[in-house]
Amino acid sequence: MNDALLYLHLVLAVLICALLLAAKVRRWRRLSAAAALLLLLTGAHNFATRMQAPPPGWHALAGIKALAGLHALAMVFLLARGGPEEKERRWRKSALISAGLTLGMGLYLSNILR
Ligand code: HEM
Repeated sequence: MNDALLYLHLVLAVLICALLLAAKVRRWRRLSAAAALLLLLTGAHNFATRMQAPPPGWHALAGIKALAGLHALAMVFLLARGGPEEKERRWRKSALISAGLTLGMGLYLSNILR
């Protein structure tokens, strides 16, 4: 069950990154908002289950990862709602930076540190 939710988290993470890269969050706003919400829920679940018996340094890195992930998701919700073109460009750029960082940190935490 925990592994299935981790894989679901991975699939949703790739989907959000693809939507951001293709600049399609506004066009696919319901899908984007649903994916962001599920990513948040599966992330919180991963956090609660994986903090038991973590490897050294896990808490600090996982905390930074979660904060960067929350920032990316907040930008996705703003993009889904829409705004002035100039702001949307800024939101998308900062979401791409945070989501890329979060993706890399997540893969490192799950597959290398552990
Ligand atoms: C844009 C947002 C996010 C992206 C791109 C992302 C990406 C990832 C990826 C790629 C993994 C590794 C999955 C695997 O190897 O199967 C992962 C794991 C994880 N994510 Fe996220 N995530 C995001 C949001 C969040 C949020 C908001 C939280 C916490 C509230 C969170 C908590 C976790 C935890 C705890 C793990 C497991 C780390 C471990 O195995 O030790 N993620 N994430």
